[in-house]
Amino acid sequence: MDRDHYSRRMIDFARVARNDGDQLYSVLPELIADNRELMELGYLVPIAQPTANIVMGAIHYLLLKGVDSPVQEYYGTLTDTPRPPDDELRSHLLEFCRENREDLEDLCKTKRVQTNEVRRSIFLLPSLTYLHERIGPFQLIELGTSAGLLLNFDQYSYDYSHRDTILGSGPLVLQSEVRGTPPPLPGSWPQVIRRVGVDINPLYCHSDDDKLWLLALVWPGNLPRFNRLREALEICTSSQLELVKDDGFTNITGLLEQYSYDVPTVLYHSFAINQIHREARDKFYNDLRTYATTSGKTIYEIRNGWHPDDSIDIELRVHSPQSSETTKLADVHHHGEWISWVAP
Ligand SMILES: C[S@@+](CC[C@H](N)C(=O)[O-])C[C@H]1O[C@@H](n2cnc3c(N)ncnc32)[C@H](O)[C@@H]1O
Repeated sequence: MDRDHYSRRMIDFARVARNDGDQLYSVLPELIADNRELMELGYLVPIAQPTANIVMGAIHYLLLKGVDSPVQEYYGTLTDTPRPPDDELRSHLLEFCRENREDLEDLCKTKRVQTNEVRRSIFLLPSLTYLHERIGPFQLIELGTSAGLLLNFDQYSYDYSHRDTILGSGPLVLQSEVRGTPPPLPGSWPQVIRRVGVDINPLYCHSDDDKLWLLALVWPGNLPRFNRLREALEICTSSQLELVKDDGFTNITGLLEQYSYDVPTVLYHSFAINQIHREARDKFYNDLRTYATTSGKTIYEIRNGWHPDDSIDIELRVHSPQSSETTKLADVHHHGEWISWVAP
């Protein structure tokens, strides 16, 4: 990829941040794209990783870690009264990047975008409720689990806008606007016999470094999201999540054979399958169909992510020995801000 392409990725990121109202990230990536020395960091990011997210994450990570610099004054995640981007930001940034060059280079070369958005539980819960009503207790395997925070969906509380009461008693309350038909919600949590998170590079909530990287990936203009993640990581440290390091999409057959219990298997993945290339995706679906046919078992796949037209929904795909059928469950906001249930 030519160097202009990396710069364009930075500028595109700034545009998205502007639309999202993130003051600092509307400016910071453009400052970097405009400066040859700073852009050298972007060239180090592996091609398959989103350049700007990694460079922004690397800077944020060091600041969260406590590296002292005037740059921290611009971050809403580091001060209650963040300084709006101004003429001095460029020189502060240059100085910060010069002083921390080695660490920044190392982070840019090695880190991945693994954002774990706990508020996606807002649509995972009704999807699992919908399935539980139909198939009873199940085992849950999440592909692309990151730190596995979504596997803890029954440790959070839920404030859906159409209800007067909060569901659950956990300390972290996830709020969401319900648009149109209310989603199915449980009287008691769906019964999950076993839960396993699979990731090509699992992150551990017991690791300070992994926690910091997850927090660093959150945009500094979105403090509620940052705080939500911090709380979910706290909850996670007292849970016993089973996380497995594997290429979950390529090795789906091996995983299904390994976790072959008498209860039905629910596969969940959100914003992960888009990180693999098209041939790998086709192979994943072929493997699922072949597994269902040869084992005689039905696999229930809940998939959340973008469609090629940029719409985002949540779908249930039932891979039975006879056929594969898709039901759209809901349209959703990618961070769970709202949900619009559509399944019958
Ligand atoms: C953007 S994160 C989403 C995490 C979580 N599903 C969520 O919605 O909060 C995508 C995750 O997928 C993982 N991933 C990408 N390709 C993978 C693969 N082939 N097998 C397993 N995990 C993969 C990444 O490492 C990353 O942790």
